[in-house]
Amino acid sequence: MSIERTAVVAGATGVVGRYLLRHLLETGDWNVVALSRRRPDVAGEFRHVAVDLLDAADCRAKLAPLRDATHVFHAAFVQVADPVEHVARNAALFTNLVTAIEDAAPSLRHVHLVEGTKWYGSHLGPFLTPAREHHPRHAGANFYFDQHDWLEARQRGKAWTWSAVRPHAVCGFSVGSPMNLALALAVYGSLCRDLGLPFSHPGPAANFHALYQLTDSGLLARAIAWMATSPQAANQVFNITNGDLIRWENLWPRLAQFFAVEAGEQRHFSLRDTLGDKAADWDRLVARHGLQPHAYHQVAGWGFADFVFGSTWDIVSDTGRSRRAGFCETLDSERMLLDLLARFRRDRVIP
Ligand SMILES: NC(=O)c1ccc[n+]([C@@H]2O[C@H](COP(=O)([O-])OP(=O)(O)OC[C@H]3O[C@@H](n4cnc5c(N)ncnc54)[C@H](OP(=O)(O)O)[C@@H]3O)[C@@H](O)[C@H]2O)c1
Repeated sequence: MSIERTAVVAGATGVVGRYLLRHLLETGDWNVVALSRRRPDVAGEFRHVAVDLLDAADCRAKLAPLRDATHVFHAAFVQVADPVEHVARNAALFTNLVTAIEDAAPSLRHVHLVEGTKWYGSHLGPFLTPAREHHPRHAGANFYFDQHDWLEARQRGKAWTWSAVRPHAVCGFSVGSPMNLALALAVYGSLCRDLGLPFSHPGPAANFHALYQLTDSGLLARAIAWMATSPQAANQVFNITNGDLIRWENLWPRLAQFFAVEAGEQRHFSLRDTLGDKAADWDRLVARHGLQPHAYHQVAGWGFADFVFGSTWDIVSDTGRSRRAGFCETLDSERMLLDLLARFRRDRVIP
């Protein structure tokens, strides 16, 4: 039987995209094209196009052959220090992609955009919680706004539909993603054990006690595929998280147990400032334990971890809309995190 759907997954090497790629391949219902500059290390049969999405001409040239594309999934992302450039480049990644595919693919049916809880200003200070999809966007710039507004305007009057997802703190088995909290915790715990450092929660007390939420990459991938193929999800946005809440104060002793270290006293410090110079220690640890030879900068996402442990307010999304529309999957976040840490250990990323 021939497969009638062709997915184009942009950002296929990321902590969001590689799980989406894998999920679509596992269902057997999709032809899959992966877009990223590096080739994704995902098993299965898919086409990979090494395209620079920041380069409109490269997009036009390399994506023109994708005439059979029916669904576009945007999970590409670039971190840029200058805030204005950050917005401009992330907007360009998306508009270059969709413009090129729209021109190439007469049977385009759906465009999916990955956004995040930052839409509500979760990164700026206390915000209205539980955040609901209709709540107002935060004041100031955010590349999600540029991407989202462009998408809605572009779709008007077209045969294709769109959807968007707002996850928070996405965790998966992925190396080289700067925003993978699970890997940052894995490396932090491993270094503490190796160097005899206390495994302290590195945030302020308010962060230790606040409500927080996590999103498993696999669950997120299944939710995105559901959105892209369910008529009731067309032209809508959905919060997606594991559906439960955590407080680091509850989780921290379990993490310490996993690493077989004492949970140090909770104290506020920067992981980047404290561990940023530990590349040589990491290399020694890798050699001593015969680990996979990942460079320190690929596993040590301290900037993102400092950000996660820096907030002093509750971060909670309401996920009722997706459940009412038919996506009802939930996960135990504590179990998810411990399972991921175990996977990093089993696959020799950490000792
Ligand atoms: N991670 C989280 O906790 C989280 C939470 C909420 C929302 N989100 C959102 O989810 C989206 C994806 O984030 P992520 O964490 O998965 O990012 P990521 O792990 O850093 O992955 C980024 C992806 O974009 C690709 N990419 C970057 N520049 C490119 C370019 N010029 N041309 C082609 N591909 C390019 C990268 O591939 P190559 O480098 O191989 O080209 C990679 O596959 C972002 O919008 C982010 O804001 C993430």
